[in-house]
Amino acid sequence: MDHFELMRARHSVRRFTNVPLQEAAVAALREELALCNRESGLHLQLVTDEPEAFSAEKPHYGVIHGCRNYLALVGEKDRDEAIGYYGERLVLTAQALGVSSCWVALTYKKSKARFDLAPGEKLYMVIALGYGETAGTPHRSKPLSAVSDLTDDAPDWYRRGLEAALLAPTAVNQQKFRFTRNGSLVRAKAGLAPCAKVDLGIVKYHFELGAGRENFRWA
Ligand SMILES: Cc1cc2nc3c(=O)[nH]c(=O)nc-3n(C[C@H](O)[C@H](O)[C@H](O)COP(=O)(O)O)c2cc1C
Repeated sequence: MDHFELMRARHSVRRFTNVPLQEAAVAALREELALCNRESGLHLQLVTDEPEAFSAEKPHYGVIHGCRNYLALVGEKDRDEAIGYYGERLVLTAQALGVSSCWVALTYKKSKARFDLAPGEKLYMVIALGYGETAGTPHRSKPLSAVSDLTDDAPDWYRRGLEAALLAPTAVNQQKFRFTRNGSLVRAKAGLAPCAKVDLGIVKYHFELGAGRENFRWA
């Protein structure tokens, strides 16, 4: 699968089967996780086979069913954008391995969670992982013009980057970000919204895959 196929195939999945993650998938995820932590200085962790992580009783937004595995997104404070960027890199790694996911800021049980926090670190949120009952459905999306300064004469790589950004998951599908371009310099800004900085990291990762890192630089 190429990057666009992967990004198009990924949807949030909130109902999982009880099939354990395949050993090869766990090994590949752990390998990518180690690379992400080395590169970022974050302390992302994979927890497998923990059926109690997501509470089913809470009736609010997006309850997760049957999930036994998750990524604990841990790091020092003020690393929101990096959490988004590297979390999404792992989401797409999982997708390529046939493992579905859902970013979860709200509905998990911290008390039952099994992960390490070093001094000065905090848990930002988690990403549920597993084999979905279904593959999910595409989200509604804003037009490119609502999230950027795209003009008809803009280079192809810019349009592709923006299309990739709009395929990204954002909290409550808010898509509150804005891209602007000056030649090959691209600036991405977060709006004012819950989780907007984590969303920004996520959409920047998608933009890089869509545009091609060789075509532009971040301002
Ligand atoms: C930072 C972040 C936090 C999220 N928190 C939750 C959550 O607590 N519960 C939930 O069910 N979905 C959560 N989501 C998933 C979004 O609702 C979902 O990504 C969005 O509706 C777009 O749908 P898609 O992921 O299927 O493309 C979160 C997504 C992001 C990026």
